[in-house]
Amino acid sequence: MPEAGCRVAVIGASARRVARALVIAGIGLVTASAPARAQSPQDTAREIERYREAVADSSPGELWEIRGEDLWKTRRGPNKVSLEQCDLGEGPGVVAGALARLPRWFADAGRVMDLETRLLHCMVTLQGFEAAALQRQAFGSGEQRSDFEALSAWIAAESRGRTLVPPLDHPAEQAAWRLGRELFFVRGGTHDFACTTCHAQSGRRIRLQELPNLSRPEEARRVLVTWPAYRVSQGEMRTLQWRMNDCFRQQRFPDLVFGSDVSVALLSYLLNNARGAALAGPGVRR
Ligand code: HEC
Repeated sequence: MPEAGCRVAVIGASARRVARALVIAGIGLVTASAPARAQSPQDTAREIERYREAVADSSPGELWEIRGEDLWKTRRGPNKVSLEQCDLGEGPGVVAGALARLPRWFADAGRVMDLETRLLHCMVTLQGFEAAALQRQAFGSGEQRSDFEALSAWIAAESRGRTLVPPLDHPAEQAAWRLGRELFFVRGGTHDFACTTCHAQSGRRIRLQELPNLSRPEEARRVLVTWPAYRVSQGEMRTLQWRMNDCFRQQRFPDLVFGSDVSVALLSYLLNNARGAALAGPGVRR
């Protein structure tokens, strides 16, 4: 179904836009192998910066945006309905600007939810998909993809330029933020790592990868507004939920459950650190 949906979307979209995205995706494949040949971390960082500049106006992410819009509007799942009645917080069907006010409290679910957790909720309650099956695919691995990357990419594009201001008025929103802050600093696992082991100093890197200091608003703003992000090395769009799980792996923690209170809390903390920045996703990553 997603395959067919993609073809329909591609035919419907401007041919030039699609062709441009395909050309850039091609550049991505060539550039992706560059880090292995690069002489130094500085060379690699320069390569990635050059790539980001090259794709600044038109990113391969456009292909995911096109597919995401199509997925949103297509009648799918056992109930054969679209997601057009999904309430991302601004009212049923309102997509523009929705990402700027997430995570937030949703009375109908009795929980705080970030974008992907809310999409999961809508796919289950409106379309009738089974939650566990969606959660199993949701992180993707290698080249495997789920529908979340495309949906998130399109919704992020529809919020581009909006100022990120996740609400923090509801007691549950405050509790999620507090839990996220605690989780960010708590050490555990076989290596006694916390998020702060890798993300609490500026200018550090693991091998060739830069490690932003995510407690500092300036650094959190710079990186968090660019998610979901197209990963050049994987040729795939990745969501923030995916990023949390991949960093749990970095931390030698057990797998994270997609859409769980833990992942939502971490995102609440991080996205509130980035408060006030203009959204710029989907971005591009190594
Ligand atoms: C052992 C080191 C390590 C730990 C611990 C770790 N991370 Fe990461 N994190 C990384 C690396 C490496 C990257 C960059 C990956 C890349 O560029 O491919 C990253 C990237 C990120 C990013 C994306 C930054 C960007 O450039 O957009 C976020 C957000 C993040 N981590 C959050 C967390 C959180 C939250 C935790 C704790 C649950 C955590 N990380 C724990 C190593 C770590």
